Formats: sequence, C-alpha cells, structure tokens
Amino acid sequence: PPVEPFSVAMPVPPVLRPTYVGATSDLYQIPVRAATVEILPGLATPVVGYNGQFVGPTIKARKGRSVALQVTNQLTKPTNVHLHGGFTPAAHDGHPMDSIAPGVTRTYAYPNLQHAATLWYHDHSHHAEAEHIYRGLHGFYLIEDDAEKALRLPSGQYDIPILLRDALIGADGSLVFDPTDGENRPTILANGKPQPYLRVAARRYRFRLLNASLHRIFRLRLDRGQMIQIGSDGGLLPAPVPVSEVKLTPGERVEVVIDFGTQPVGTRVVLENTSGPVIGFDVTSTATDDSRVPDQLIPLPALPTPTVTRDVALSFDPSKLAFTINGKTYDATRVDAQVVNGTTEIWRVTNRDTAFGIDHNFHLHLVQFRLLDRDGVPPTPGEAGWKDTVHIPPGSTVRVQATFAGFTGKYAFHCHFPEHSSFGMMAQFEVVNQTR
Ligand code: C2O
Ligand code: CU
Repeated sequence: PPVEPFSVAMPVPPVLRPTYVGATSDLYQIPVRAATVEILPGLATPVVGYNGQFVGPTIKARKGRSVALQVTNQLTKPTNVHLHGGFTPAAHDGHPMDSIAPGVTRTYAYPNLQHAATLWYHDHSHHAEAEHIYRGLHGFYLIEDDAEKALRLPSGQYDIPILLRDALIGADGSLVFDPTDGENRPTILANGKPQPYLRVAARRYRFRLLNASLHRIFRLRLDRGQMIQIGSDGGLLPAPVPVSEVKLTPGERVEVVIDFGTQPVGTRVVLENTSGPVIGFDVTSTATDDSRVPDQLIPLPALPTPTVTRDVALSFDPSKLAFTINGKTYDATRVDAQVVNGTTEIWRVTNRDTAFGIDHNFHLHLVQFRLLDRDGVPPTPGEAGWKDTVHIPPGSTVRVQATFAGFTGKYAFHCHFPEHSSFGMMAQFEVVNQTR
C-alpha cells in the first residue's frame, strides 16, 4: 500500500569524519558496497551505497584544503566517483572509462580551489552510471569558505542538504530499474525517505536542493510562505531572489532560505511538486535566530571575452534507439572539442528533439559556466549565477559561457539525464596548452 505522506521523518545524511587530518589535506575513506536499507516502512530494500548508505555521507570540504577520497570498490562490478561541479584534475575526475575494478582501492585528490558551493558525488562508470545512481551511489560534497561564512546565512543544524529523486519500489521492497521506463517511478524520496516530514523551528533554514533523479524534472513550490533562492549549482548568487517555483532537472542544485518564523508553531509548510507533496515542514518549536539573508551575497565576476563559439546538438536517433551529440554516440577515443587552456568559449547547445518532445539538459565537467540566454532570452536571476547543468526543453537553444583555465586533459560533457548519457548522449572535450 502507498505510504501516507508525512508519516516518516526525513533524515539528514551524516557528515563523514576524516580518517586523517593533515596540515593542508583531509583523508576520507569510503567503501562502495551493497547494503539493505528501509526506504518504505517495514520493507527491506537492497541498495548500493557509499558506506552502504542509500544517500551517501556528506563530505564537508574547505576552500584551499584538499581532500583525498579513498574509495574501495566492494562490489562485483566496476564503479567510480565523479565530483559533480568540481574543478578537478582530469586524472581525478572519474572519467567514464576510468573505473575502479572490484576489490580495488582508488584515491581521488580534490584540490577544492573553488568558492563555496553545493557539489555532489556519484558513480560515472560508463553504461552503469544510471543504474548505479538509481541504486544509491549519490551523496553531497559541500565546499565552505570564509566569504560565505561572513554572510551569516543559516548554518549548522539549520543548513540542510536535501537529495530529491524518484523510484519504483516493488512489493518486495526492491528498487525496480527499467532504463526505458523513466516516467514510471512514482515514489518521491527526500534524503531517501518517501514524502517525509521534517520538524523545524520557527526560524530561517538554508536548504540545498539536489535533483538526483535519472529522468524526473522537479517543479517545487511551497503551499505557504516564501522561498528565497540564494544559490545555484556552483555557488551563491550575487543577491537573494524570492521565487515562487524552483525548477530542478537531474543534476542541478538550488539553494533556498525559508523563514518558518513567519508561521505560527503548529503549522505544516508543504514543499510540493507537480506530482504532489514532497516534504512537510512541521513548525514545532520556537528558536532564536541570528542568521541573516543579506541584500548582497557573493558578486559575480565580469564575463571575460570569448574567443571561440561551438555548436552542440542533442538528439534522439530512432533508427539506432540511441541518444546522440552532434549525431554521434559516445566514443571515448574521440575528442569533439579541443579547448585551449586559459581561454573563454561560448557553447551553443540545441535540443533537437521537438518531434519526440524529449527534455534534455547540458552538463560540462571541470567548469562552472554562466547561462547567457535561452532562445535569445536572458536568464532569470536564479539561473544567472554559477551553473554546471542547464535545462534545454525540446526545440530550445541555450548559450553558455565558460573559462577553461588551470587543468589540461580530457573531460566529459553530456546530457545529465543519466538514462540518456548512458545510452550515448555524451562526448568529451580536451583542454590543451596550445592548439595542435
Ligand atoms: Cu553529474 Cu558527468 O556528471
Ligand atoms: Cu537527455
């Protein structure tokens, strides 16, 4: 029987403790393993998780301190880890072809040179990533810095990451994975629980929302009160933006502040999707609140002058039942774009799938980009900040601008509907020190 909304508490994924704290670097160890967890009350669900957790432990990094993430693959299949949104050397980026064999331990080094942001980590082993993410290989990776801290946004227990996704859970509790039937995943999960409640105090909270679904687009609203958007994929916005709806395609993050202090104790504030309720925030107590949402957050730098414009087309090929980029499916031996280290480019990306009405989005590894426009229309303030993943509805074209500076090597770019990328809608660019 379906679970009553708001009958299960929403957990907050535990913050992982470093195994070793060095002068400039922290070491974390994570086994990737099969486990059994309770998602629906009373049912045992086999999952694959970082540390065996259905939503992996949260890694909290500090700008300027590197992280060594030691991952042991205890599965019988290859896996790997990609730090989504991370400014990462190519050898540590979790390239789709660079996987960890069963039984092997691999150490990823993350320099954390970028400013504060809500990143996430997930499996990226080619052809397996959709199923692996679906079965639980997803977790948060938060970068903090002093500039963010000085703003005095809600912090500590009032700063909560929420991983949203859907699932199809069989009567026996199993996670049913059918990559061709992404529409048929009716159970909405927040931090791994179905339509949970969260007890909150009557004060401000910061929520970091991530869509880790394979296919579903969330359009989130509150039934009362106001969401203030403060951040996007790659960090804080220049200024807070009141929003009535938050749209999240797979891979995207939006940070919001909700002030429950505007509601009497005893109120339930519901975060709703077009499909129904997602989370019930139960205001159960009062609390002091010395947090703020300042009028100015973190300024965006001026856009450098681009020197190259590229065209990218995303389309489904019905004759091959394949998803393509510029007519080709993924081939790791091919480099589709050679980018000169230190330069700024505009990528013009079109979703050609008007006939089938298929939504896509676009994700570049290595960089945070800026959305210039969608079909010629400038972005709303909530999409005008740092982005690494951007929605492209059928027939639309986005222009994004990125500066590729610092690391050379091969990186993936793809649609971040993992069911599309794992069936070919992925390619790679290479950053080189000069044009060959
Ligand atoms: Cu979230 Cu190429 O990944
Ligand atoms: Cu797609």
